[in-house]
Amino acid sequence: MKNREVCTATRRQFIVSAAAFGSLWNSPLAFGADPAEVSRLALASDPQRPQFHLLPARNWMNDPNGPVFFNGKYHMFFQYNPKGAVWGNMSWNHAVSTDMLHWTHLPVALTPTPGSPDAYGVFSGTAITVGKRVYMVYTATRKSTPELATLKDGGKPIQESQCIAWSDDPNLVHWTKNPSPIIPLPPKGLDITGFRDPSPWKQDGVYYLAVGSGVARKGGCVLLYRSHDLKQWEYLHPLTEGVWNGQHTANPCDDGEMWECPDFFELDGGHVLIYSTLGKVIWQSGSFDTTTLKFTAKKTGVLDFDAFYAPKTQLDATGRRILWGWIPERRPDAAMLKAGWSGMMSLPRTMRLDPDGTLRLEILPQSSALRGAPVAVATDSAAKTLTLEKCNGEFTAQGREGTRLQVSISNGSEELMKIEYLPQRHAMVANAHEIQLQPGDSPSVHAFADGSVLEVILGQRVGYTRRFYSAQPTAPDLQVQVTGAVAGIRAWKIKTISNNRLTTPAQT
Ligand code: FRU
Repeated sequence: MKNREVCTATRRQFIVSAAAFGSLWNSPLAFGADPAEVSRLALASDPQRPQFHLLPARNWMNDPNGPVFFNGKYHMFFQYNPKGAVWGNMSWNHAVSTDMLHWTHLPVALTPTPGSPDAYGVFSGTAITVGKRVYMVYTATRKSTPELATLKDGGKPIQESQCIAWSDDPNLVHWTKNPSPIIPLPPKGLDITGFRDPSPWKQDGVYYLAVGSGVARKGGCVLLYRSHDLKQWEYLHPLTEGVWNGQHTANPCDDGEMWECPDFFELDGGHVLIYSTLGKVIWQSGSFDTTTLKFTAKKTGVLDFDAFYAPKTQLDATGRRILWGWIPERRPDAAMLKAGWSGMMSLPRTMRLDPDGTLRLEILPQSSALRGAPVAVATDSAAKTLTLEKCNGEFTAQGREGTRLQVSISNGSEELMKIEYLPQRHAMVANAHEIQLQPGDSPSVHAFADGSVLEVILGQRVGYTRRFYSAQPTAPDLQVQVTGAVAGIRAWKIKTISNNRLTTPAQT
């Protein structure tokens, strides 16, 4: 399964390739005489590199970490390798924005401290604001003995513990780490498959913490902790548990025995849980019993059909729930190393919950601020067509309930996405993926093309993010063809968010 590559790639494969990269990084031949300068020029003119998605100035990135609206600004932190374009040396990079669309890089916020619990890497985590202070609750990783290891699929035993760092800086540039973990070990007596990605929230004056985990041959789960001061934590029980699918592989994320990056929050009168496993992101909506402190799911689905993983949500200035996800590459390590960058952040997606628990998604409506000139739509008797030149632009296509609609997006040599609304099933099918629409809904496609990514929301219900790589020296023109009952179709060019594709490194 294509998606599985992502999950495997996040751990075993990248740990192995990061080790290989160590020797490449030390080689004077790897990047030429002035690696930084040459590489910056190459990055800025790379047609695959996005123009309006957030990504670091260079190198590897993965999960969004601790996105937070603080002191009038949006801060995004994310998993980052300061030393190369493959996974390794996990640190938290940092960018700031006033609108969640235009970003400025800030210095790397958290790096591994040698000899400490996070010596091997500062893994994913979440922000929580207390007055004028922002806390980050994150997973620290260090090499360990097999007995203490909770992460074993990379070839070396790694111990994961939950840690905390805080910042009283209005710009969140300076951080202080608590020297020892707040939760050093997983609960006793469980054959734990992983112990990471803490996600705190406050309810009725008490702090709770969800930690991604799982139990071998029982399935993935989310462990629930409670605290009164964010520092002393008491383990309660699993917030919710999966059902084991009978598979047991070396990497528990590849068989569903481990759930990464849980996020649990209230939304429109219900509760939503998000977690990542099997290379996919699952959402569940349901109820949280404040007496038993257990979550019961009533509806479930996937958040995106392809290149979207380990998301994290935040509240924006107006109280909307915003979803951010990591858009991984779908190309080999050698290609990422050659390009000098890997991964990007999704566009912000707003989330809503219907009274029956149906989750709805849309790209942040304010992203219309990125629109440039309109793109002409040509109409003939058979179809409406438009071209997104050099793989840059946005289009929306609205259909009608009960009448066929087809949208095809191709790059000249390949059909990247074939989307169809099937009236008899009242469902949208995109390549081999299907989403059942709700009664009364009409089919819709909202798509953004940016260099080597196509980020699409189908029927305001599910994302479909695809990567593709053209061998040409310029990004390909994308041809969009819409047939059937089109109620509306519009398209725009999208303005770049920086004149150097965000290749300017942090100002330290
Ligand atoms: C998800 C993940 C997290 C972990 C981080 C490490 O992509 O594997 O579980 O904290 O990446 O980079």
